Amino acid sequence: MGSFIELKNVSVLRDDRKILDNINLVINSDENVAIIGPNGSGKSTFIKLITGKIYPSYTGDDTVCKLFGRIQWNVHNLRNMLGIVTNELQYNFHNEITGIETVLSGFFASIGLSNTHIVTNAMIKKAENTIDFLEVSSLKDKKLETMSSGEARRFLIARSLVNNPKVLVLDEPSNSLDIASAVKLHNTMRKISGSGTKIVLVTHLVSDIIPEMDRFVFFKKGKIFADGNRKNIFTSDKLSSLFGMKVKINENNSLCEIAVV
Ligand SMILES: Nc1ncnc2c1ncn2[C@@H]1O[C@H](COP(=O)(O)OP(=O)(O)OP(=O)(O)O)[C@@H](O)[C@H]1O
Ligand SMILES: [Mg+2]
Repeated sequence: MGSFIELKNVSVLRDDRKILDNINLVINSDENVAIIGPNGSGKSTFIKLITGKIYPSYTGDDTVCKLFGRIQWNVHNLRNMLGIVTNELQYNFHNEITGIETVLSGFFASIGLSNTHIVTNAMIKKAENTIDFLEVSSLKDKKLETMSSGEARRFLIARSLVNNPKVLVLDEPSNSLDIASAVKLHNTMRKISGSGTKIVLVTHLVSDIIPEMDRFVFFKKGKIFADGNRKNIFTSDKLSSLFGMKVKINENNSLCEIAVV
């Protein structure tokens, strides 16, 4: 199976401050993982690190930062292994691109299509099937900039899935979604996980968490605050100390809620 990421003694320094502070973590490519932490705890920085967008600030003999067992990756080779959807990525798609063009650009790891990209019939078929899987077929010819953020997010998820990646990384996918769209996304994540792609989900909303997730990594102030399985880590007590206020988790069917007590 192998590891998706392997980090040893990894720190990231910005403005003389360690925004990730000596992280030691291995995530295998057969795990669905929830990364939870308060605002500013380093979650998105961690995502940039594990998707090869930034590098550790120190590289001593004791530092390891590997992605699928390798130190460096070419983005074109990585796309078959790793799908990524972040809010930053969504901001980059602001031009006149349609839903299906967005998804097709996933084959080239590009932001949109240009005339140097050769789109085959097989790619179109795969893109259409993936759009169908994400349940947005009726919008495929609509311009991305005219979609709601929830609709556009579905096309970006479809874009990241066309290469059948082993792991899909989602950074706060329910950001700006209404309750119904957030529930729909929750169900979509379950469907993706059921189809064989593992999900690494970054969130500070516990309602995003799907039952298929059995590993929880909590970040606090740039450090790993807790790491373990659902039973040991995803508890009202641990979440209360993570967020610094007394909270209680309620689990109803597949949905979790968090209440301040
Ligand atoms: N390029 C940068 N330069 C300086 N500081 C940065 C940089 N990127 C992140 N930071 C700081 O590092 C800390 C962690 O940021 P990060 O975006 O990783 O947090 P986060 O856990 O994703 O928060 P949120 O829940 O608000 O998305 C924050 O205090 C942030 O201001
Ligand atoms: Mg963030």
